[in-house]
Amino acid sequence: MRDPLAEFDWTPPTRVVCGRGCVEKLGELVAAEGCARVLLVTDPGLAAAGHPQRAKESLERAGLTVALFDGVRENPTTKDVEAVRAHAADAAVDGFVALGGGSCIDAAKGADFLVTNGGKMDDYRGRAGVERPLLPLVAVPTTAGSGSEVQSFALIATEATHEKMACGDPTAAPRVALLDAELSVTMPRPVTAVTGLDAITHAVETTVTRARNERSTAYSREAFRLAARAFPRVLADAEDLDAREDMLVAAALAGVAIEASMLGAAHALANPLTRALDVPHGLAVGLLSPHVVRFNATEPATRERYAELGRLLPDPGGDTDDAVAALVGFLERCLETSGLPTALSAWDLDDDAVGPLALEAATQWTADFNPRTVTAVELAALYRSALDPTES
Ligand SMILES: [Fe+2]
Repeated sequence: MRDPLAEFDWTPPTRVVCGRGCVEKLGELVAAEGCARVLLVTDPGLAAAGHPQRAKESLERAGLTVALFDGVRENPTTKDVEAVRAHAADAAVDGFVALGGGSCIDAAKGADFLVTNGGKMDDYRGRAGVERPLLPLVAVPTTAGSGSEVQSFALIATEATHEKMACGDPTAAPRVALLDAELSVTMPRPVTAVTGLDAITHAVETTVTRARNERSTAYSREAFRLAARAFPRVLADAEDLDAREDMLVAAALAGVAIEASMLGAAHALANPLTRALDVPHGLAVGLLSPHVVRFNATEPATRERYAELGRLLPDPGGDTDDAVAALVGFLERCLETSGLPTALSAWDLDDDAVGPLALEAATQWTADFNPRTVTAVELAALYRSALDPTES
């Protein structure tokens, strides 16, 4: 019988343009989307690298009028989105250009909902369904991580509680994603590490989730293959343009996979850590990923899917167990070579705090898509295993 997962309904919504220096084409690509006045949404750290200036020049060369908002904060909240919305409304723009990491892209995406359809961010939680068409959004990622440049969801935190909401609509994905490795070489090493861990975890989680299909899994596998060879290289040499480009492509491919596959327990566990302890998202998922893989791999079909990833690594060994061990070892090495903390004990987190965090993790949307059922009990055990991995 044909695998029911072979059935799918899937239109990758984003045109992806990749190449060194392709930011110079930004203006013509945005103009081709029918825009005349755009809001360039970026963060305060990028100006020093000259990236917003290059983007603005390209847009103006193509005859576009450009308004600038350069105040997006990491893990954008409803307040950030409101600030972007106000700037877009004041400038009466007909399109958005987001230049930066996932935070900038998500803030622009969120503001697009409010500018075109009104209301507040909360109204767009889940798969929203919009009444009026959104304005075109063109995304220029300067990090290789979130995959937001090809996704129809924005992750926006509530200002008061810092609880993350996934807000989306099938039409909310950027029209164009522009992958220019020259823009990612200026990423500081910790940002390279944290965002790279996020992209790798996306590739791993989307390979096994309940919502995956054959096509999305192909994207996951290729994302993992590229990132597995490129991640150690970008950490060793920040200016390795080939590896930077592989990471950008890997992050985008994994992002496409997320559209169909959603994510799993590592992401469910990560959100409470970011909210309560400010653990950077990519580090949180990277820390938990080896533990989640060990936990999920007790299920035979999932174990085999992990093994397929393990076989993409050098020296995967002969059988399924060896290949899964190779995958876990690789994930642990990624964390170690990143130079970031490798255990949750590095934060102010003890055994008593685990229970409430696990209850919160169990309410995360992504927990539903993990291949093994996870309740607060299993999630608490996963937190504990990451508190001090030497004891697991
Ligand atoms: Fe993520």
